[in-house]
Amino acid sequence: MKRILVRRWICSLLMVGSLVSPLYSLAEEGVKLDHAPVDTSNLPSLQRGAQHFMNYCMTCHSAHLARFDLLEQIGLSKKQVEGNLILTNAKIADYMTVVLTPKDAKSWFGVPPPDLTVEARVRGADWIYTYLRSFYRDDQRPNGWNNRVFPNVAMPHVLWQLQGQQVLQHPGEAESLVLMQKGQMSAQEYDQYVGDLVNFLVFMSEPTRGERLHLGIWVLGFLVLLFFAARALKHEFWKDIH
Ligand code: HEC
Repeated sequence: MKRILVRRWICSLLMVGSLVSPLYSLAEEGVKLDHAPVDTSNLPSLQRGAQHFMNYCMTCHSAHLARFDLLEQIGLSKKQVEGNLILTNAKIADYMTVVLTPKDAKSWFGVPPPDLTVEARVRGADWIYTYLRSFYRDDQRPNGWNNRVFPNVAMPHVLWQLQGQQVLQHPGEAESLVLMQKGQMSAQEYDQYVGDLVNFLVFMSEPTRGERLHLGIWVLGFLVLLFFAARALKHEFWKDIH
């Protein structure tokens, strides 16, 4: 009986492992990922990231599980959101949908740009951070760009004017990316720019995380108090019996 139970446990573990492993293998394949500077309590960084997302990503990608009023949670007023961040005629209570139709997207890029609401949970912050800094020039590709983290990606390098143009040197084991033409930003400024953007994507993928952590601390504190109260009560009950 015991053996059957153990076998069942091993089977369940293997099943969970096989469900999770494709996600890990995506991250493991190929390139070493850089660490994304994520800090979702840094409101100015989140606000900058939100602005970058609206300016550069929402032309193609939606975030249709989030509403624009989510931006009020990162310290922006309704007026600021409607005045500076919504670039269409959407209202603040609307979901962040995209103007581009899936049919047009398919015919332009071959694949529709995926929704980015929970992308930071799907790929992980480090993956997106490295991906947005790993585009390089490749004349073999239809749009002239390739990516070290996502080979033959259909997305063009939409931030190239900021970063500049990189090329891939010594493809293979010892390959590296080298900046051939400077952009408007220094490498450090571009890293910060992408860092803010990724920070916002992490926040959007789990907006209640800060609240949850805060609540968690209170719950743990309460459990500790309860433990001492229960222990004192036990001593009180048993003291006359021993
Ligand atoms: C011109 C349209 C366009 C713009 C603008 C654009 N993307 Fe993309 N993006 C795409 C397409 C198309 C894909 C799908 C690529 C593929 O599957 O080959 C994609 C894929 C991605 C992926 C990988 C998705 C996955 O998990 O497979 C991420 C992450 C991403 N984009 C982030 C961004 C961010 C962040 C911005 C803003 C800085 C942005 N994109 C702007 C078209 C765009």
